Parts: sequence; structure tokens; C-alpha cells
Amino acid sequence: MAEKKLKAGIIGAGGISTYHIEGYLKSDVEVIGIADPAVERAQEKAEKYGIKNVFSSYEEMLEKCPEIDLVSVCVPNKFHAEISIKCLEEGKNVFCEKPPAMNASETTKMVETARKTGKILMFDFNNRARPESQALMKYIKNGDIGRINSAQALWIRRCGIPGFGGWFTQKSLSGGGPVIDLLHMIDLALYFMEFPEPEWVLAQTFYDFSTNPDFKGPWGIPDVEGGIVDVETAAHAFVRFKTGQVLFARNSWAEMNKREEVSVTFQGTKAGGMIRRLFGRDGIDETAIDECEIYTMENGHPVNRKIIVPPDEKMGRERAVINFVRTVKGEEEPFSKPEEAIILMKIIDAIYSSAEKGEPVKI
Ligand SMILES: NC(=O)c1ccc[n+]([C@@H]2O[C@H](COP(=O)([O-])OP(=O)(O)OC[C@H]3O[C@@H](n4cnc5c(N)ncnc54)[C@H](O)[C@@H]3O)[C@@H](O)[C@H]2O)c1
Repeated sequence: MAEKKLKAGIIGAGGISTYHIEGYLKSDVEVIGIADPAVERAQEKAEKYGIKNVFSSYEEMLEKCPEIDLVSVCVPNKFHAEISIKCLEEGKNVFCEKPPAMNASETTKMVETARKTGKILMFDFNNRARPESQALMKYIKNGDIGRINSAQALWIRRCGIPGFGGWFTQKSLSGGGPVIDLLHMIDLALYFMEFPEPEWVLAQTFYDFSTNPDFKGPWGIPDVEGGIVDVETAAHAFVRFKTGQVLFARNSWAEMNKREEVSVTFQGTKAGGMIRRLFGRDGIDETAIDECEIYTMENGHPVNRKIIVPPDEKMGRERAVINFVRTVKGEEEPFSKPEEAIILMKIIDAIYSSAEKGEPVKI
């Protein structure tokens, strides 16, 4: 008998949901429902992808489509925990967008609910799913890098504020600015370092250019007249782990940087390495550069190796969804484990707390 097709429901029909829908379709999953209070947005996606059922609330989708096995949570950060917990309790496997939640305490509740219900909870750390990251991870797992003593994680932009006054720039809806929004490279560095336990964080945040339209990003995110802008635009942080390993992180939406850079560089006891995307004119165009390298000492000489992988313009966003489906089917190891998200969010919380207090914070 043919294997039963898994069925998915999408919660939130904004920008990122497209990658989820396309990832499911590429994994032979049927997307049977989509829910968004902005119902016209859900309708539009439903028409484009042939999704049969459109709802204005996710609760209604859960009630009317009980056959859903998988849900994607693609809503503003404030609602990640509440919606994911409800879906897990309804017996669904959940793929939740990043950041996992507003803070470590909400994330812990989500992880505990997954444990209690026995359902799979994964977060969209799509940068782990990039071919470059998986290639580097093979060297790390093989022991070719040794212990990563130190790493530098950067997601820095010059003109990258995601609109003024919408949910991204309102702390009560987003949890913060680039520290929480662009947490991908901190997560990727932790993944390469195999999630050591953090001990100390020292950080500073900056709020410059937060009302200057010249610093707006190019993605067409609409401004909201009179909307709130109360999040940082840049942050610099240093993390020391109990093991003695260290991580330096820079995240910015608006800062006087040469160009948008997304990278992790690391120094191991046997080799160093780097994964980097330099965006073209604050977007992906012909001037964008992807690099992935290993630095070793061989036969008395420094050797730099370039790892060549197929290009992935989508930065693993579809591959991460495919990995979620394969994890549910038991066909692949998950790229991320829920407990790792708690460690990540403890660091994010400590960055904000250290910046606010003006002193190092112990985790
Ligand atoms: N992994 C990535 O690369 C990546 C990229 C962009 C955004 N994201 C994350 O994806 C999430 C959504 O971001 P986006 O850019 O798609 O935002 P968006 O504003 O384009 O879309 C969010 C949608 O959620 C809807 N929504 C709000 N409350 C809802 C609810 N209770 N139920 C159902 N729908 C609800 C909104 O009406 C909106 O249509 C955020 O958490 C963001 O951090 C991840």
C-alpha cells in the first residue's frame, strides 16, 4: 500500500510562509490549510499554491482540519510560544520560525510541551541547513577542526531596518531588534561549537538611525504611520562559556558598515574555518559572494581550502523544512534539537540584560 501523504497547515501567510509551503511541496507533503487574520493574504497564497482551506484563525484551522500532521508557525515572534504550545497539545508536529520565542522562559515552556506530548518541535534555523554549514559540520564531526576555542558571528547591515512602526520594530511584538531578529549567526556558531554552556555575557546595544528612512531595508516592508520603533539597531556582544570557549557577536540593521555581511569564523585547535555571505547592495544580486573555507597547517605550511558546494540563494530556508518533514518521517537526523534553542535564547536574554545594566551578566 502507498505510504499516506503527510498533511500540513500554515499559520501566518506573510513573507516567510512561501518557503514553508514550497519546502512542503518539495517533500511530497500536502498543504491543506492556511490561517491568517489578514485573510486576503492567506487567500492569495492559497490560490497560488492550490491550498483548499483558508481560515482567519489558526484555532478554526485546527478544529476544521483535524487531519493536519504538521504545522508551520510563521507569525510575529510574540505569538510563537502560545501558538506552538497549542498546536503541540492538539497533537501536531510543529515547525516554528525563528526566533524560537520572545525569551528563554517561553522557549523552555515550548520545549517542555514537546517533551510531554511526544510531538516533534523544531525551529527554523535555516542557516544550519545551508550546504556550506552542513559541509563544515562534516569536518567538525570528523574531528578535523579539533575544539573550537573561539568564534565570531556577524550579521551586520548598513541599511536594513525592516520598515518603521510594524511588528519588527516594536519590542512588545518582536522581543527586540537585530539581536533577536538576526540571531542566526550566533545560533550557527553555537552549532559549530556544539552548544557549550554559556557563563558570562558582556554586551552593548545602540539605537542610532532608528527613525531615519535612509536606513530602511530593500524588501518593501510597509511603514506604519505613528507605529512604535523602540528596538536597538545594532549590538556588540562577547560570550564566555563554562568550557573557556568564547564567542564574539555583532548584529545590526543600521550601522556604518561597508556592506551586508553574514558570517561565522572560527578558530579550532586543529583547523580554523569560515562561512560567509557578502550581500550585493543589501540584497542578493550578481555582486553577492558566498564563501566557505578551512584553514590548516599541513607539512609545515599554512593551507587554505575552499569548500565548493551547490549555491543556495534561499539560505537553507526550504532545506530546513524538508529536514523537518524527514525528521518526522524518521528519515533524517534533525538539523536542530529543541534544547539548543533554550541555550541560544539564554544568550539573547543576557545580551539585552547586560546592555541594559551596563555590566557583565552571569547566565
Ligand atoms: N528564517 C528566516 O530567514 C526568516 C525570514 C523572515 C522572517 N522570519 C520569521 O518569520 C516570522 C514571520 O515573519 P514574516 O516576515 O513572514 O512576517 P510578516 O509580517 O510578513 O507575516 C506575518 C503574518 O502573520 C500573521 N499573523 C499575525 N498573528 C497571527 C495569528 N495569531 N495567526 C495567524 N497569523 C497571524 C500576520 O497577519 C502576517 O500576515 C517571524 O517570526 C520572523 O522572525 C524568518
